Amino acid sequence: MERIVILTGAGISAESGLGTFRDKDGLWTRYDLNEVATPEGFARNPRLVHDFYNARRANALDASPNAAHEALARLERERAGELLIVTQNVDDLHERAGSRNVLHMHGALAGALCAACDHRWPAPRAMDPDAPCPACAAPRTRPDIVWFGEIPYHMDQIAEALWQADLFVSIGTSGEVYPAAGFVQEAQAAGAETLEINLEPSRVPGLFDRVIAGPATDTVPNWVAEMLA
Ligand code: OAD
Repeated sequence: MERIVILTGAGISAESGLGTFRDKDGLWTRYDLNEVATPEGFARNPRLVHDFYNARRANALDASPNAAHEALARLERERAGELLIVTQNVDDLHERAGSRNVLHMHGALAGALCAACDHRWPAPRAMDPDAPCPACAAPRTRPDIVWFGEIPYHMDQIAEALWQADLFVSIGTSGEVYPAAGFVQEAQAAGAETLEINLEPSRVPGLFDRVIAGPATDTVPNWVAEMLA
């Protein structure tokens, strides 16, 4: 089991107090994703979009990594062989737990991006829609988040890693959003074993070789202990 690719979603950060999207009381039951998570919504009402992500950034900054984030960092540290975390999460809890090899395919709350010139810089805790870009001065700053209708980041690197993977693990994601939802099939086609760790099995039975159900702060440390034994 040389190369492991781990896909994470909102479920791994749920027990750190950050909301998921599609569960009961999830973010998409309270907000219209077309208004806050699309380029068109941002063009219509930049302040509403900034308010949404400013609130999420404040929540993420006030949250701490949980036992599941910490276990994945331990796995990377203590196991020989490559481990890559591909996260759909925009929080930085994997990094704060000590994981090094992390790709944020949906961007990060920590980043600001100029919609006019593509310059990137660290986001302040509260972004101001009227603040000029430090590079080109255009007042078109946005969070460096991938919205619906935009192309996720690092797709070439992720495809290469899935192609090389011996084990693909999906943790805390509903599998509703592509392209991430298709990674399990890509990894399988390349010959990897597949494992889902989620509160409950997320999709059609049999899609993954193995499913471990339960809260991430129990299931992930147990699985990591099994891997390191
Ligand atoms: P979802 O909210 O769609 O799914 C979260 C999954 O985590 C569900 O399957 C839950 O059952 C599971 N879950 C909840 N609590 C858990 C816990 N304590 N332990 C383990 N699992 C738990 O979130 P994502 O799949 O991450 O994209 O959503 C994918 C993308 O959709 C997000 O990156 C975001 C969203 O729209 C954008 O905004 C572009």
